[in-house]
Amino acid sequence: MDWNKKRVLVTGGAGQIGSNLVRRLTKLGADVTVADNLWRGQLSNLSVDWVPSIDLETRFLNVDLAEKAACDLACKGQEIIIHLADVVAGINFVFGNQYFLFNKNALIDNHMIAAAQEAGARKYVYVGSACSYPADKQAVLDPPPFKEDEVYPASPESAYGWSKLMGEYLCELAAESGKMETGVLRFHNVYGPNCVLDPAKSQVIPALIRKAITYPTDDFVVWGSGQQRRAFVYVDDAVEALVRICERGMGKGAIQIGPDYSTSIRETAEEVVRASGKDISITFDTTKPEGDMDRAADWSKARDILGWEPKVDVREGIRRTYEWCEKELQYERSTAAE
Ligand SMILES: NC(=O)c1ccc[n+]([C@@H]2O[C@H](COP(=O)([O-])OP(=O)(O)OC[C@H]3O[C@@H](n4cnc5c(N)ncnc54)[C@H](O)[C@@H]3O)[C@@H](O)[C@H]2O)c1
Repeated sequence: MDWNKKRVLVTGGAGQIGSNLVRRLTKLGADVTVADNLWRGQLSNLSVDWVPSIDLETRFLNVDLAEKAACDLACKGQEIIIHLADVVAGINFVFGNQYFLFNKNALIDNHMIAAAQEAGARKYVYVGSACSYPADKQAVLDPPPFKEDEVYPASPESAYGWSKLMGEYLCELAAESGKMETGVLRFHNVYGPNCVLDPAKSQVIPALIRKAITYPTDDFVVWGSGQQRRAFVYVDDAVEALVRICERGMGKGAIQIGPDYSTSIRETAEEVVRASGKDISITFDTTKPEGDMDRAADWSKARDILGWEPKVDVREGIRRTYEWCEKELQYERSTAAE
C-alpha cells in the first residue's frame, strides 16, 4: 500500500503505542493527525530528540473523544482512522475504577465509529485486548494459547475487558453497513519506550522498571505472588501489526497479536533486575491484586493474514525499555530540580 500523503488519524497518538505508530507512519510518508486529550499520553512522546514527528500546531488535536463533536472534528477529511484512544491503566486503576472506565471507553468507541462513518473514512482500525478473554480460561496456569473465537461466550474479568470487547463488536456491526472497512487487532500486553511511568497509571513492566531505578531508596516490591503470567509484546511488534492490518488485514475479524508463550511476573521482575545491573532483593506483596493467572496467543491467524511474527523477545525488549525509562526519569528529575 502506498502511504505517501495518505491522510491518517491516530487517536491516542500521544500514548505508548500511538506515538510509536505515528513515528512509523510519518516515515512511510503519511499525513498524520493525532487526537489525544493527554489523559495518559504525553506531548513529548510525539518528538524524537526534540524534533516533533508531526506539526504540533496543525496536526495535534487536544480533544476529549468521549464527546461526539470532538470525534467529528478529528475524523473530518481522514481516509484511514486508527483508533487507539481509550482509558488504559495498570491493574490497580482498572479494578478501582470499573464504572468510570467502562463508561468512558463506551462513549469514546461509540462516538468515534459513528464520526468515522459520517466523515466517509475508508478504513477504520480498532485494537481490542487479551483482557477480553473469559475469566475462567485465564484462571489456570498454562492454558493452551488462545484462538480468536475463544473470546465468546464472553465473561471477561474486568470492565476494561468488557469495554474492549464491545469496541470490537461495534466494528463488526459497522462493517455490515458496508460504508467503511473495519480491521481489528487484539493485543496481549504491550510494553516499550513511551510507556507510562506514573505509578498511579502504569502497567507492570514500566512499574517494575521504575522501582528498580529508584532502588534502594524504594523497595522493589512485586504485586501478587509473581506466579501470574503474561504474553508480552514489544511495542515495535505491535506497530508492525497495525501497519500490516491497514495494508492487508481489513474485514478479516479480530486478529490476535502476542507470542504463544507467557512469562511469569517473577521472571519479568528478574529480567528487570538483570537490566538494572543492580543487586536487588525482590519481595512479593500477596495482598495486592494480580489479575488473570495466565494467557498466551495462538498467532497463526496473524501469521497467515498479516505475515506477522513476534520479533523482539522479553529480555531484549526489557533492556531497551529500561534504557528509555532511565533517560525519562533523569529528565523528570532535572526539570523538577529547575
Ligand atoms: N498496552 C497494552 O498492553 C494494550 C493491550 C491491549 C490493547 N491495548 C489497546 O491499545 C490502545 C493503546 O494503548 P496504549 O498502551 O498505547 O495506552 P496509552 O494509555 O498509552 O494510550 C491511550 C491514549 O488515549 C488517550 N486518551 C484516553 N482517553 C482519551 C479521551 N477521552 N480523549 C482523547 N484521548 C484519550 C490517552 O491520553 C493516551 O495517550 C488502547 O486502545 C488499548 O486499549 C493496549
